[in-house]
Amino acid sequence: MTIPVLTIDGPSGAGKGTVSRAVAKKLGWNYLDSGSIYRSLAISAMDKQADLADKAAIAQIAQEMQLAFECNDSLTVKLDGVDITHRLPSEETGAVASTIAAYPEVRAVLLQKQKDFRRLPGLVADGRDMGTVVFSEAPFKVFLTASAEERGKRRFKQLKEKGIDANLDQITREIELRDRRDSERKAAPLSIAEDALYLDSSALSIDEVINKVLALIIK
Ligand code: DC
Repeated sequence: MTIPVLTIDGPSGAGKGTVSRAVAKKLGWNYLDSGSIYRSLAISAMDKQADLADKAAIAQIAQEMQLAFECNDSLTVKLDGVDITHRLPSEETGAVASTIAAYPEVRAVLLQKQKDFRRLPGLVADGRDMGTVVFSEAPFKVFLTASAEERGKRRFKQLKEKGIDANLDQITREIELRDRRDSERKAAPLSIAEDALYLDSSALSIDEVINKVLALIIK
């Protein structure tokens, strides 16, 4: 029996996480937050004081790291047995994740770790290359985006709510920089799968987006 997969790709801050979690909960499916795998690797590499430009060394760390995901109401991530959930959202982690995610050696190692999330009764996979590379044969695909200004505002609000100090202009600039890095890299760049539903969430509420995504699956 083939296990159904819904892929939700798009740039950072488009609301993929919120939408993916809500849709997974509604369907009773498993959830893969692939960005958190790249973020966990970034944390492991920084903790080991690895040379972030050394592709082979980073790929070796990717190979060795032990990740455990516990998804109840929120996601808990353990790296080599230690809870690192609170360290995942920072801008520094995101920027390092984006840098090392450009290494083909790293992506090759992480490919199988991501495919392993495909378990019954189904999977919602959130990331940059879920519909184009990791689950290219998925029957349901969405590309979720929003303007950089809108994504900057949302990210700013999220960080403030978590008590993290932030500057809106700087966040928007960092988002644009990350978009460029994620879209221009050679290995699995952020791109729209041919068969994906394109959704711009700039002027949509989160519930409107969730309903449009669910309508793809529940006919
Ligand atoms: O979705 P996120 O912001 O947590 O992702 C962090 C970085 O990881 C992002 O800038 C690019 C990289 N990433 C990727 O290359 N491929 C994915 N499927 C998910 C994330």
